Amino acid sequence: MSVGADGSGGAAVAVGSAEGGPLEDGFVPSALGTREHWDAVYERELQTFQEYGDTGEIWFGEESMNRLIRWMQKHKIPLDASVLDIGTGNGVFLVELAKFGFSNITGIDYSPSAIQLSGNIIEKEGLSNIKLKVEDFLNLSTKLSGFHICIDKGTFDAISLNPDNAVEKRKQYVKSLSRVLKVKAQKNNIG
Ligand SMILES: C[S@@+](CC[C@H](N)C(=O)[O-])C[C@H]1O[C@@H](n2cnc3c(N)ncnc32)[C@H](O)[C@@H]1O
Repeated sequence: MSVGADGSGGAAVAVGSAEGGPLEDGFVPSALGTREHWDAVYERELQTFQEYGDTGEIWFGEESMNRLIRWMQKHKIPLDASVLDIGTGNGVFLVELAKFGFSNITGIDYSPSAIQLSGNIIEKEGLSNIKLKVEDFLNLSTKLSGFHICIDKGTFDAISLNPDNAVEKRKQYVKSLSRVLKVKAQKNNIG
């Protein structure tokens, strides 16, 4: 179906290293696919933020955020559309969305330190009304649902690198995506 441009359905927009087309099993299992890795990364980034105010790494660079926002503009996504950022990390993309005018945005991440860091950055930016939750997208504990737009910048990639049965985890990802999106989904990989 066609996307959330008219607000009637849900769309998933992904930026990752698996550009276009079906995923090949070219993913090499890596620590980048584990929760321990991301917990360690965000504990460190949280500490760096607290000490120096540095927000840390922007995955795929600033331009990736502009590209996503341009996609949303092009598809006339209303500013009050409900948007979920899957694996939000430091939450910098949430900040960009809020500054652009999106008013119904939620970030989830399974790393509690990532969510704490996002909260600190959002607070420093003086923004309110951004919802944050510690959630494992592959094992959703709450009734997260009804999102018009789901954004994924690097999380599906990370999940695909999991050393423990990544194929199953990708399937679970798709199931979770269908669960959280409003009505039906269209997946858009904008590379
Ligand atoms: C490559 S980083 C990207 C972070 C952020 N999207 C960005 O663009 O800066 C991948 C993120 O996915 C999160 N993540 C990985 N697997 C997850 C899962 N099953 N549920 C929720 N978050 C997950 C990690 O904690 C990490 O924040």
